[in-house]
Amino acid sequence: MDLLKTSDLSDEQLTYLLDAADRWFRFNRTVRTADDRLKGINVVTAFFENSTRTLLSFDIAAKRLGAMVTTMPVDASSVKKGESLRDTAMTIDAMRIDALIVRHGDPDVPAQLAEWMNAPVVNAGAGAGSHPTQGLLDVATIRRHFGKVENLRVAICGDIRHSRVASSTRALLERMGAEVRLAGPSALMHDDYDGPDGIDEAVTDADVVMMLRVQRERLESELGDAPGEYLSRYGLTGERFAKAAPDAVIMHPGPMNRGVEIDGDLADSERSLITTQVEMGVAVRMAVLDLVTSQKRAVADEKSATARTIN
Ligand code: CP
Repeated sequence: MDLLKTSDLSDEQLTYLLDAADRWFRFNRTVRTADDRLKGINVVTAFFENSTRTLLSFDIAAKRLGAMVTTMPVDASSVKKGESLRDTAMTIDAMRIDALIVRHGDPDVPAQLAEWMNAPVVNAGAGAGSHPTQGLLDVATIRRHFGKVENLRVAICGDIRHSRVASSTRALLERMGAEVRLAGPSALMHDDYDGPDGIDEAVTDADVVMMLRVQRERLESELGDAPGEYLSRYGLTGERFAKAAPDAVIMHPGPMNRGVEIDGDLADSERSLITTQVEMGVAVRMAVLDLVTSQKRAVADEKSATARTIN
């Protein structure tokens, strides 16, 4: 199976992934005994956009389960000689890999690759479209902290327009019964936005305050604000966070612009779950890799059982 967007997951698969991620989270915190359920599996990562968290956590997740990981060096590849995306996909697929993890600036690319390839394709972030494993790790982090997602008030604030995190995380939160409040500067909201006017209103009484990075690389024009002005007008300051629920937590998918969308001291405070999100990222991706390769592994197991019977 492919994982291109959160809506690809049935309710059963979603519950399975969140429960499995919780188990892998605990597994990763203990002195690890080997788990080689992905032994013999070849995972290829192809990141056409930069990444620290997603790329490394997929790599670590795959290796922690015994898989072999190959990273396609996009900048040194034949893509730079003009090879088309379709030919690139067919070339990778001909190597009989077992999963492709792809990040691309074009939101449609993961789905195109999935059409052209036999190997399962996992979207590791596609333009301003979707980032399903980030959505999964965000809800898994919230569920682990609060023991539930339903009825929590979650404020997602900042650059909503350009954020694939906002769309994937929001979709899962709403699906699981949370109240999601989006807020940000009007230039960074979707055109049809009709939510709260300001960050303060969204943060008030929120159980979770998730700040989003200002994506300057996707902005056609600068916001024009003086340094520090974004933080005081739209960012998470101590004064603003004091309006949230008494046991509220702070989240950010990273990478952060400290002093722009979030006060650095708040990001480092004990109310912050930002490093827990990163830790959960490995656990969620272990669960995802296990799920997307399960069909192929089952066929391989069946074939080797038949071969043993014949021999
Ligand atoms: N949250 C996230 O996708 O981070 P990276 O860009 O570092 O992978």
